[in-house]
Amino acid sequence: MTKKMIGLILVAAGLVACAGAEQKPSAGQVIFESYCVTCHGPKGHGDGPIAAQLPAAPADLSMLKASNDGVFPAANVMTQIYGYPGRYHKGMMPEFGPILNGPMVEWTSPQGETVLTPQPLLDLVSYLETLQE
Ligand code: HEC
Repeated sequence: MTKKMIGLILVAAGLVACAGAEQKPSAGQVIFESYCVTCHGPKGHGDGPIAAQLPAAPADLSMLKASNDGVFPAANVMTQIYGYPGRYHKGMMPEFGPILNGPMVEWTSPQGETVLTPQPLLDLVSYLETLQE
């Protein structure tokens, strides 16, 4: 094989790897797209297809960090999603407890507290963090 051919093969392999990475959404994104976009919209802006029919507008999930002095409120967001009806939800947001069942892992908050948290919830909250503007 010539050096040029090897080079071409490496380029092709690199392209395949890139395409693969683009096509495979993270675990958190999969959960978000299955359970949250109908209300919160694809980027979390609160503009999902059924948002207009709700008695209260879904929160803009891309502003969680900005509205908390630039710190992403991970623990807060987790309690709002998991097992706690929430401040605002008023029964509108479904209970996600059952779908978030999964292996429990230790999560250490920025304050240094360690809590047991389902892995899917951590995945979801990490994905929400990527939506912050
Ligand atoms: C049936 C519609 C609906 C679905 C589905 C839904 N939400 Fe909500 N969500 C709402 C509404 C309505 C609010 C209340 C908005 C307000 O009053 O600020 C809200 C508020 C929130 C808040 C509070 C934001 C804040 O400013 O404190 C978080 C966090 C949240 N949703 C996350 C999620 C996540 C994550 C999912 C998917 C697992 C989800 N929601 C699915 C309707 C929904």
